[in-house]
Amino acid sequence: MKKVMKKLLASVLIAVLAFSMFAACGGDTDGDKDGEKTVKIGLIQLMEHPSLNTIRESIIEGLAEDGYVDGENIAIDYQNGQNDMSVMKTIVQKFVANECDIIIAIATPAAQAALSETSEIPIIFSAVTDPVDAGLVDSLDAPGANVTGTSDEVSAEMIMNLAKQITPEFKTIGALYSSGEDNSASVIAGLKEYAAANNLEVIESAVTNTSEVKQAAQYLADKVDVVYSPIDNTVASAMAAVTEVFNGAGVPFYVSADSMVQDGGLATYGIDYTVLGKETGHMAAQVIEGQNPASIPVKKMSDMSVYVNTDTAKALNIEIPSDILESATVFTNAE
Ligand code: TRP
Repeated sequence: MKKVMKKLLASVLIAVLAFSMFAACGGDTDGDKDGEKTVKIGLIQLMEHPSLNTIRESIIEGLAEDGYVDGENIAIDYQNGQNDMSVMKTIVQKFVANECDIIIAIATPAAQAALSETSEIPIIFSAVTDPVDAGLVDSLDAPGANVTGTSDEVSAEMIMNLAKQITPEFKTIGALYSSGEDNSASVIAGLKEYAAANNLEVIESAVTNTSEVKQAAQYLADKVDVVYSPIDNTVASAMAAVTEVFNGAGVPFYVSADSMVQDGGLATYGIDYTVLGKETGHMAAQVIEGQNPASIPVKKMSDMSVYVNTDTAKALNIEIPSDILESATVFTNAE
């Protein structure tokens, strides 16, 4: 009896969800006044945190720069994956059922969810740190399947080199990251190589979701000289709690994305996500115009800069060398 009820409930739920989705991705395809077909875009974002939100807005801008405007000749169905793989799979299943023309996936797990549900609809991913390691493409130059996009790869070594310039005297590095994100796994592997080559010790503290991040930070705070986080979505969504812990304990926290510095991390060397988002939009436009994702190389961002939070430096009593400050983008906590 219980089982039957559950089944019934499940099918009602699916029907309701399917119907609500139909309004968006499956909407009016008769197109605009000129009789042109409206392109249906399923846009899935792993979760909402500042960097991914910036990326989404920039993708929409990039599409508009190429003449594709939401509500005019394209219809974007935006869905938030809630940092949950089963939620994301359900979202993509609905994109498929509603015959989206193209799927745009922001962040690694969202792209993996998309690829696991369709090998036919073109997928453009955005801000995937390591698309090869994540199993999305065969190679950056020749993706191979129905998927291509932009990568925000940065090496742990480059950020550690920056750390050496700002706080030269460290021996132990705390690694704070989510064990469920492939984007973090490959960067942490690089961190360990760097540490081994430079006689440094790495102490890991891995989490599986946002609610664990503060405690994982506390675990590291009295054990290490500095802490490093890769471009990790779970950590990025808990920056307020984390910076409170590390600033309170006097531990420099090096991060991997501009937004994480803006949210209180000490410093990073990284890319501009506005540029990356627009590039993703341009690649989506190419695919809308008929190009095959399999033969569009993955794009990496070439412009990188240093980002520093001077309020965090003050709280830690750290003086940022003036040559670094001169070329850096500076954030304060007021922004
Ligand atoms: N690169 C991350 C991924 O592959 C996504 C991401 C983009 C991100 N910007 C970020 C993560 C900023 C943390 C902070 O999933």
